[in-house]
Amino acid sequence: MKIYEKLLLENKAWASEKVQDDPEYFLRLSKIQTPEFLWIGCSDSRVPANEITNTQPGEIFVHRNIANMVIHTDVNLLSVLEYAVAHLKVKHVIVCGHYGCGGVKAAMTNHDFKQVLNMWLRNIKDVYRLHRDELHQIDNEEARFDRLVELNVQEQVLHLAKTSIIQRAWKHDQRPHLHGWVYGLKDGLIKPVFEMSANTNIDSLYEYDDL
Ligand code: CO
Repeated sequence: MKIYEKLLLENKAWASEKVQDDPEYFLRLSKIQTPEFLWIGCSDSRVPANEITNTQPGEIFVHRNIANMVIHTDVNLLSVLEYAVAHLKVKHVIVCGHYGCGGVKAAMTNHDFKQVLNMWLRNIKDVYRLHRDELHQIDNEEARFDRLVELNVQEQVLHLAKTSIIQRAWKHDQRPHLHGWVYGLKDGLIKPVFEMSANTNIDSLYEYDDL
């Protein structure tokens, strides 16, 4: 059996198990999608949104990229955000990073990862530069790495709040609540590190006054 054939086989077993437990399961899910959460996580295979939160299909709308970044020129991320916030009307947006993130670690080096990855990682280097004073006070390299993971999540949440998508929903609908979380690969636990409730004041430079 080829390695990918195992996935298809497991899929068959999973689907029949679901139907056994609940004959209407797929019929119900196929009709409507009403998730309350948008998850922006890292692509890392060890941080699957549904599994670590024990949620089911239909509960979380998911976007993942390297190091869970919110980049304002990323049409993919912005489309997902717009759809989740304006159409699905999610109540919570969660940016979930993780300790031991390879993307964050790579950004801490001076290695040339070639153009496309360099371009992506540069956004994490910007986070480092913004918080250089705090980070340089941490002698232990592992602890500094952990802290950058947390600060990166915080900055990505702030990036969300800078978008007209979030500000419009805050103004007209008093949602969504923004959360910055960090998942621990070593213990499986999620640590909340930052949050912004609807209409939290942001730097006025980024505020739209005619939404
Ligand atoms: Co990662």
